[in-house]
Amino acid sequence: MFLISDSFPRVVPSPKESAQSVRDLTRKHNAWFKDSIPLIASENVMSPAAREVMNSDLHNRYAEGLPFKRYYQGNIYVDQIETLCEELARDVFSSKFADVRSTSGTVCNIAVLAALTKTRDKMTTVATSDGGHISHAKIGAAGVRGIKTFNYPFDEKNMNIEVEGAKRLIREVKPKVALFGQSVYLFPTPLDELRDVISEVGCSTWYDGAHVLGLIAGGRFQDPLRHGIDVVSGSTHKTLPGPQHGMILSDLPREGLETALRRGVFPGVTSNHHLHSVAALAVTLAETKEYGAAYADQIVRNAKALGQSLFERGLDVLCEHLGFTESHTLVVDVEQYHGGAKVAKSLEAANIILNKNLLPWDSDPVRPSGIRIGSQELTRIGMKEKHMAEVAELIARVTVKEEPPERVLPDVVRLKRDFTKVHYCFFEGEEAYDYPSYDGSL
Ligand SMILES: Cc1ncc(COP(=O)(O)O)c(C=O)c1O
Repeated sequence: MFLISDSFPRVVPSPKESAQSVRDLTRKHNAWFKDSIPLIASENVMSPAAREVMNSDLHNRYAEGLPFKRYYQGNIYVDQIETLCEELARDVFSSKFADVRSTSGTVCNIAVLAALTKTRDKMTTVATSDGGHISHAKIGAAGVRGIKTFNYPFDEKNMNIEVEGAKRLIREVKPKVALFGQSVYLFPTPLDELRDVISEVGCSTWYDGAHVLGLIAGGRFQDPLRHGIDVVSGSTHKTLPGPQHGMILSDLPREGLETALRRGVFPGVTSNHHLHSVAALAVTLAETKEYGAAYADQIVRNAKALGQSLFERGLDVLCEHLGFTESHTLVVDVEQYHGGAKVAKSLEAANIILNKNLLPWDSDPVRPSGIRIGSQELTRIGMKEKHMAEVAELIARVTVKEEPPERVLPDVVRLKRDFTKVHYCFFEGEEAYDYPSYDGSL
C-alpha cells in the first residue's frame, strides 16, 4: 500500500520529544495569552476555584444517567455535586428545570432538537450571515437532524430581526419551532412583539442564549424564560465565565418536555458528561450568584465605552444610533482597511486577539468585511470603562493609523501586564493565565 509519508521521509520525533513539544507549545500559548488583549466574544477565563475542581480526579470518572440512578459505581460525591449544580442553575436562572450534562453548546442544541423536533420539521432561525450560529443552520446540527430551516428577515441598520417580516415568515411557514438567539448579538430579540403570532401558529419556542447567559444571570439582558420561551440552551463559557460545557433550562410549559429534554441529553447526545466540568460549572454558578450582577453590568458598560472610543478614533462601529450595543459584543465594518481577515491577522500580530465576521450585507461568505469584539474577558480581568480608551487606541493604531503591528505590540504587552488576575469570583486576584507545571523536561 502506498502511503503519502513514504514519499516524504521526515524525522519522526520520539514519544518523549512529542510529549515535550506539546508541553512547550502549551506553555508558549499560555504565555502568549498572558501578554495579549483577548477580545473574542465567545471566550472567557475561569475562576481559581472552578479551575481547581476542573483539574481534579473527577475528570477521570464516568457517571451515565442522572444522580442517584447511575449505571456505574463510584459516584457518591459526583451525585451530590451534580445535584448542587442543577439546584444552582435553577436558582440563578429562576427556572423550574435545568440539565447540566451537555458537554458544549452545540451538544445542547442537538439534544434540544431531538426533544422538540422530528426529521423534516420546519424551524425558523436567524441566518449565519446575520449572526445566527452554525448549529442552527442547514450545514450544522439542524441539517444533521434533517430540519428545514427558514431565516427571519433581518434589519441591517438596527442589527436585529425585522419584526413585520418575521411575523409574515412564521405565519407562512408555520414552523414546529421558532428558534432565537445569536452568535453576534448586539440587542435583545423582539420576543414580545412576536408573541401573538407564535401563539397563533402554536409552535414551540427555543432561545439559544450561549452568548448572553452571564448577562441574563446578572439581570443585564432580556431573560427569555420571563418572555414565555419554552426552552433555553447555551454554552457556559462566554459571558457566563465557566468551563467549556452546556446547559438547558426550561419552565416546562407542557407535559412530557422534561422527559424529552432529559432523553435528548442522555442517551441522546452524551454518554459520560464530563464530571469535572459539571463541578466547575457549579462553582461558576455559585460565584455568579454572588458577583454576577456586578460583572454583567461592567461587561455591558465596557462594551459601550469601547464602542464609543473606537468610533471616536474613526472606526465604523455598527449601530452608533443605538449606543453600539446592549450586550458584550461590538461589530465593526473594516472593509475600508481591506476586510475582516486582513485586520484580524494584523491585530493578532500585535497580540490583539479577535475574529473576522460576516456582516449582513456581505455577498462573499468567505470574505467577511467585519470584525467582532467582546468585552467579557477584559472585564473579568479587571478592566473598566477608562481602560477601554487605551484598548481602542491600540486597535486604531494598527487599523486606522496603519502602524506596523510589531511597533504596537510592546504597548499591548505593557497594558496587559496590569491585568492578569481574575475578578468577580471567590479568591479574587489569583492569576488567570498561569497554570501549575512540573519543572524540567522529559
Ligand atoms: C449562539 C451559539 N450557540 C451555540 C454555540 C456553540 O457552543 P459550543 O462551542 O460550546 O459548542 C455558540 C458558540 O459560539 C454560539 O454562539
